[in-house]
Amino acid sequence: FSLKEHNTFGIPAKAEAFIAVTSKEELKEALSHSDYPDPFILGGGSNMLLKKDIDGLVVHVALKGIELVKETEEEVWVQVAAGENWHQFVMYCVEHGYGGVENMALIPGNTGTAPVQNIGAYGVELKDVFYKCTAIDRKNLEERSFSLAECNFGYRESVFKNELKDRFVITSVTFKLTKANHKLHTEYGAIQETLEAKGIENPGIADIADAVIAIRSSKLPDPKELGNSGSFFKNPIISREQFENLQEKFPQMPHYPVSKTTVKVPAGWLIEQAGFKGKRFGDAGVHKNQALVLVNYGNATGAEIWELALKVKEQVQQQFGITIDPEVNIIE
Ligand code: EPU
Repeated sequence: FSLKEHNTFGIPAKAEAFIAVTSKEELKEALSHSDYPDPFILGGGSNMLLKKDIDGLVVHVALKGIELVKETEEEVWVQVAAGENWHQFVMYCVEHGYGGVENMALIPGNTGTAPVQNIGAYGVELKDVFYKCTAIDRKNLEERSFSLAECNFGYRESVFKNELKDRFVITSVTFKLTKANHKLHTEYGAIQETLEAKGIENPGIADIADAVIAIRSSKLPDPKELGNSGSFFKNPIISREQFENLQEKFPQMPHYPVSKTTVKVPAGWLIEQAGFKGKRFGDAGVHKNQALVLVNYGNATGAEIWELALKVKEQVQQQFGITIDPEVNIIE
């Protein structure tokens, strides 16, 4: 079974067997399949690089449904099944006037995998609107729910990537959103510029979503046209001391303070300075508008993309003494 259509990188890796599950019962059945004891769980396939074929069963989580579970004058709690496309959920919120996720429009992938790496964009992260999620324990097939605190969210991190890696399959996520008095996040320069260019002075959530869609479409390739996984690397966090030394040599280096002693540097800038922006090696490349995105021009294998990633990583290390690590899950 080819997984090419099931990963946004468009890598032609194969699975021995494949099943799409549309209910919790089907999911539990697939997880307890005697022929395939330890299946590979696949959501939207938007944040992984398949370096090799998958031995055994791939279980595609395709549970659907968006449900309003509680509301007050000002707030609303919405439960979303894991297989719902993230961007479609964002659009649902914009249409219903629910605020909180508009800055995260157009992030590829499904809602059930969004908590795993605490997706985020333009000053908002999933954790800011997360209420709880439900998940099935792969060890005993029992269901449990995780509160915000229990998820231990960090920058592109959660308990599901660390202590509980590969242990739970998320089946639904409940978000706490606003119905009135929305707190909009317009602090990102790109959002402000877009609103200004359109002459919007008092933006609403739909204006923010539109701005984000415009910004992202101008910089980030559409996986339907050009295989990619969004940001390939995380933005590295370095010590202030290292940053100040580098700043003497590279006064233009963009940076954001993280704490008193640490600074985040955009990996996209480092990669562009390292000379990789727009470069192509066979069918693997670095995107021409955003150097943080690696792309598949058609027939690249996972191994070829990975080879390019290592080249980029080594050059950045050599030039800046900064280690950049993948944000996408490398499946090997
Ligand atoms: N930059 C360059 N050259 C490039 C790309 C970026 O010089 O080729 C510079 C920009 O000029 C800017 C800085 O790097 O000064 C940051 O760039 P940008 O605002 O585009 O954001 P980013 O750090 O590259 C992060 C997230 C994105 C998210 C955007 C917007 C990570 C790893 N990536 O990207 O998330 O959409 O901010 O908030 O944190 C993703 O995780 O897949 C993703 C797309």
